[in-house]
Amino acid sequence: MQAIKLAENIYWVGAIDWNLRNFHGYETEKGSTYNAYLILDEKVTLIDTVKEGFGDEMLARIRSVIDPAKIDIVVSNHAEPDHSGCLRLLKAAAPHAQIYTAAGAGVKDLTAYYGDLGYTGVKAGETLSLGKRTLTFVPTPMVHWPDNMVSFLTPDNILFSNDAFGQHYASDERKDTECDLPEAFIQARKYYANIVQPYGMQTGKALAAVAALPVAAIFPSHGICWTEHIPEILALYRSWAAGEYDDTAVIVYDTMWHSTEAMAHAIESAFLSCGKKPRLYNLHYCHNSDIIADAMTARYIAVGSPTLNNNMMPSVASFLTYFKGLTGNKKLSIAFGSYGWGGQSPEQVEKLLAECKCEPLLPAVRIAYKPTEEQLAALTESVKNAIAAQQ
Ligand code: FEO
Repeated sequence: MQAIKLAENIYWVGAIDWNLRNFHGYETEKGSTYNAYLILDEKVTLIDTVKEGFGDEMLARIRSVIDPAKIDIVVSNHAEPDHSGCLRLLKAAAPHAQIYTAAGAGVKDLTAYYGDLGYTGVKAGETLSLGKRTLTFVPTPMVHWPDNMVSFLTPDNILFSNDAFGQHYASDERKDTECDLPEAFIQARKYYANIVQPYGMQTGKALAAVAALPVAAIFPSHGICWTEHIPEILALYRSWAAGEYDDTAVIVYDTMWHSTEAMAHAIESAFLSCGKKPRLYNLHYCHNSDIIADAMTARYIAVGSPTLNNNMMPSVASFLTYFKGLTGNKKLSIAFGSYGWGGQSPEQVEKLLAECKCEPLLPAVRIAYKPTEEQLAALTESVKNAIAAQQ
């Protein structure tokens, strides 16, 4: 395990988790990395550690450059265990290292996880001299926990951004100039949608703070480092944080005997004829976290469920629960579904959509047993009219 040189006297010493497939319900089909960075200066400095279980990999990479015992400073930009999980291990290998973290939340969280390892709390704008270089700390609370902060290294002008601008994307390439760039952007979007999306306002504030810095490179705590495509990733973050819409409509459903599916296609026809770009997701095949990534910028969301034992289907309840936790911008919604008797599910879906900042485009739609061609045509027409009324 070797350190990877990113700049003069700055090394990546993190870990690659090729096997990670789930991060708290988020399907991480490309794995992830836990990025730690080593800065060789008069004060040898480590930015973040790695998830528990990956400490040997991190220490081996550090050892390929320097004896870990020579580390003077550890900066913990974020207390979540995927970045702090090896603090105790590191402290054992580098007993005199001083740990810097956000004053208040950072100290509190690290103490809760690891006990008192002797933390120094830092506040907004505080600086720390490493010798030829200086770190400046910028709090970015709620991107993704209350303790989050970023550290800006001068004169290199490198932003150690922790979760912000990250991607769950395992690769041996460390820079945007070396990796599969379209994949990095896909994973950056999925990461934002599934991790950061509920905190758009706080992300906007963090972006404003970062905008004041002459950033030459962004080194996040997951995935690849941004060295050339900084304007693109910043523009995407600005757009996502502002909750901007595109021209898509997402239609999410489950189906038992294809009746709710037929309704989904009738709604698809309406969006298509109104110049929107419908995207269909059958929950039997599609993962919540992929749907959320696409739904983030959609103006419209339609959610359909048959009635099963007087309830919506569990798959639909799961999606709506996940969606509720990650709600970002406001959307116009349609609840729909087929039923045999009872028929409670569309109203149940509509109620949950209202809890997700959705405004009904039209009242919940339900059709008994198998929809007729006439009923489907009427559904298409009513959705078309509702869309037109909004424009
Ligand atoms: Fe990658 Fe919020 O930890």
